[in-house]
Amino acid sequence: MASYRAHMTSSVSQLLRVAETGRTPLSFFLDGVEVGALTGDTVLTAILMQQRHVRHSEFTGEPRAGFCMIGACQDCWVRCEDGTRIRACSTLVKEGMRVVTNGARNTEGCAR
Ligand code: FES
Repeated sequence: MASYRAHMTSSVSQLLRVAETGRTPLSFFLDGVEVGALTGDTVLTAILMQQRHVRHSEFTGEPRAGFCMIGACQDCWVRCEDGTRIRACSTLVKEGMRVVTNGARNTEGCAR
């Protein structure tokens, strides 16, 4: 597995993990870069452990980091590399998942 610090944060992350740090690590691809998460993280949590937004508003271009966190508002839609849309707050991140937050696409799909 790639070297990473799944439970650590940096000054660029939105979230700080303070509990459940012992869950099994996994890796996924965020905008083409392999990063870490923990089994049981939502895609939203996994993304916000790496950066401060999950997407940019298609109307204003402003960064968004989700709103309701219960799958009701659609503020956290992100795309897999194949263009498939997923609701980040109610989708669990999986090993090898390929998520884009910058609008880039290729043909790899969401999971290996
Ligand atoms: S944050 Fe509202 S649907 Fe995900």
